[in-house]
Amino acid sequence: VIPLESLALRWRDRGLEILDQTLLPDREVWLEAGDPRLMVQHIRRLAVRGAPLIGVAAALALAWYGEMGASAASLVEAAGELRRARPTAVNLMWAMDRMTALLETGAGSAELSLEAAAIFREDVALCDAMARHGVRLFAPGETVLTHCNSGGLATAGIGTALGVIIRGFQAGRVRHVFVDETRPLLQGARLTAWELARLGIPHTLITDSMAAILLRDGRVQRVLVGADRVARNGDFANKVGTYGLAVQARYHGVPFHPVAPWSTVDLACPDGQAIPIEQRDEAEVRGQGDHRWAAAATPAFNPSFDVTPSELVTSLVLDRAVLTGAELRAGGLEQLA
Ligand code: MRU
Repeated sequence: VIPLESLALRWRDRGLEILDQTLLPDREVWLEAGDPRLMVQHIRRLAVRGAPLIGVAAALALAWYGEMGASAASLVEAAGELRRARPTAVNLMWAMDRMTALLETGAGSAELSLEAAAIFREDVALCDAMARHGVRLFAPGETVLTHCNSGGLATAGIGTALGVIIRGFQAGRVRHVFVDETRPLLQGARLTAWELARLGIPHTLITDSMAAILLRDGRVQRVLVGADRVARNGDFANKVGTYGLAVQARYHGVPFHPVAPWSTVDLACPDGQAIPIEQRDEAEVRGQGDHRWAAAATPAFNPSFDVTPSELVTSLVLDRAVLTGAELRAGGLEQLA
């Protein structure tokens, strides 16, 4: 076993573990995650989450299963189950396709582990490359706004949008971060605020509905968000609420940038309409157990992601390049392939 460690994943001799993100920020509990069936459950309940990280985690679970002596047929079956664990983030399909392609060549467990480790390390490098490009966007002293969590908890590296923001702070260009709480599962409030606090980056939590006021009042110079799938024409899916934020940013003339690695680009998807959107349990919107605020019978709507048209994108920060909205619509992604 090649030891690997990130903010939310550990792959060591004693196995594969994930940091249970449902318990943050109050408790840091690591869970066993090697068995692919266990990993499917962790991915479904968002104990491990974020587009790039679920691809990396699924690849490592498959590698673990190979190390345990699983047959080629059971590995292919497990890859299929992992692939179907969540439908929107294409990184999961991308990672499983890489592992399955290798299995089809008759690869053994050592090669599977090497491939999973390569997927992990490449993600770290992709994050660094996005951050290098993205930092150039900022003028010194900017205040930025972000939605959901796109940091070290969502990737194997420093993050996508949050990675750019972190490096921007370290370069003296980002002064303050407004964090959308991100209804209904609060990835902003629970996870992004936790990451920023541990790095000592000044931040302020807002409810999603407060962003428009800050944009109107000129208190935010730039909005940066992650992406779960970028279609060929530059439309992209990200955590629900991103589309509304993009509309508000455009109305108020504030630059709006999705940040994504190449593993999030799906050239087979012509436009945003073709991106499958995960629908989650209505109970997440009503609240559950001691934290239920709506009547248990209240019907609720719970799409986990929305699609932002490339028309609202100032520029997309990739590891390979930065493309403006116009470049995206003129086939810029295909040219980069
Ligand atoms: O449902 P989640 O928490 O997995 O959603 C995550 C997001 O929407 C992120 O913004 C996205 O994965 C891209 S950032 C790495």
